[in-house]
Amino acid sequence: MDRLELCYLHRIDPQVPLGEQIGTLQALKDEGKIGHIGLSKVTPEQIRTVTNDITVAAVQNVLNMGADRHDTARELCRDLFIPYVPYRPLDAGTLAQQGHIDAALNWLLHLGNHVAPIPSTSSPEHLRQLVAVVTGTRI
Ligand SMILES: NC(=O)c1ccc[n+]([C@@H]2O[C@H](COP(=O)([O-])OP(=O)(O)OC[C@H]3O[C@@H](n4cnc5c(N)ncnc54)[C@H](OP(=O)(O)O)[C@@H]3O)[C@@H](O)[C@H]2O)c1
Repeated sequence: MDRLELCYLHRIDPQVPLGEQIGTLQALKDEGKIGHIGLSKVTPEQIRTVTNDITVAAVQNVLNMGADRHDTARELCRDLFIPYVPYRPLDAGTLAQQGHIDAALNWLLHLGNHVAPIPSTSSPEHLRQLVAVVTGTRI
């Protein structure tokens, strides 16, 4: 692959100036090696700071119906028209074990059109269940 369409700054490194971290990603974008820049595990303040300098294509933060129910970055992303990607949407499997897959994914999907959860699985059957919940169609 010559190019990654979306590359996240996975964690802001507190020991490196933020401008340097963003500048490195922007240079990769300018070279055509990445298409878009995202941020992960960020606060609303950090999103505001970075969007002053560059276009942020997505924010990936933890959010789920279980232990991580609140993230004010979600509302800010809605207001700034930034897609919001909840990671750990099944609370790392806890909600699936409790039989709450439908409820957990629909809870996230109903938070707004800008919300796109990314459940993970190592099982083809579980993948079918996840796709069925999101699309309403069995594959
Ligand atoms: N940006 C970040 O800092 C960050 C941090 C953590 C995670 N992530 C990303 O977020 C995504 C998901 O997070 P996650 O894997 O931690 O948690 P998750 O999606 O909340 O939960 C995954 C767990 O749910 C189970 N599961 C999924 N579908 C199921 C089903 N139909 N029935 C029963 N169990 C089911 C999986 O087990 P099976 O494998 O047995 O299906 C797996 O153990 C990943 O792409 C990960 O890379 C990002």
